[in-house]
Amino acid sequence: MKKNSYISLPVIKRLPRYYRFLGILKKNGTEKISSNELSRQMGLTASQIRQDLNCFGGFGQQGYGYNIEQLYAEIGNILGVNNKIPTILIGAGNLGKAIATHMEFSERGFDLIGVFDRNEALAGQMIKGLPIRHISGLYNFCKDNSPAVAVLCIPEESAKEIVEQLVKLNIKGIWNFTHYNISAEYPFLSVENVHLSDSLMTLSYQLNN
Ligand code: NAI
Repeated sequence: MKKNSYISLPVIKRLPRYYRFLGILKKNGTEKISSNELSRQMGLTASQIRQDLNCFGGFGQQGYGYNIEQLYAEIGNILGVNNKIPTILIGAGNLGKAIATHMEFSERGFDLIGVFDRNEALAGQMIKGLPIRHISGLYNFCKDNSPAVAVLCIPEESAKEIVEQLVKLNIKGIWNFTHYNISAEYPFLSVENVHLSDSLMTLSYQLNN
């Protein structure tokens, strides 16, 4: 892909899905796939796929289809999966523990380097090889390790104060599992909100219609 070429946000939002599908095909040893077959598997139209993949060079060849390894690597580069962005997680409760344990941060461009909680009883417990640190150590840890991203798994009522601190500590991006509307107050931060309930309600709509 040409450097600095512009890809629209809706296309970027579809890229992780392409990456996931192509990863499965690659793992199964498939070398190439037509846009028709990819569209069938992904539930998108073939023309949508051609349009999306043309945004960064296409790689499709008439009569051949897409070279899976090449496309997978290119989409991975665009998504930055080979980065190692230093990341911290705040809130080591049910959700935080599950995310720290099951999310393969390193395969997605992030390096989880610290886990924090305000509950003294959790301090010192290990998650994914990292000790849970008391939140009072956040300032010094960030000064020493310069994390760029924070994952928030705390209740909404704790979020405002924590985000205020994180901004002062130069955090640039937040993966936000709280329902606190960070972007309204800090429009300059990169924020990705996750609301599992939205997905569940979308399912509800589909069942009802
Ligand atoms: P939990 O109560 O098991 O864990 C929350 C943890 O945050 C606790 O360990 C607590 O000590 C810690 N905490 C609270 N304030 C803190 C602060 N200021 N600094 C550091 N640590 C702090 O709760 P659970 O089940 O893990 O859920 C966490 C939050 O995530 C809930 O508020 C829930 O609403 C939200 N959630 C969001 C989902 C989503 O799709 N966005 C899905 C599930 C939960």
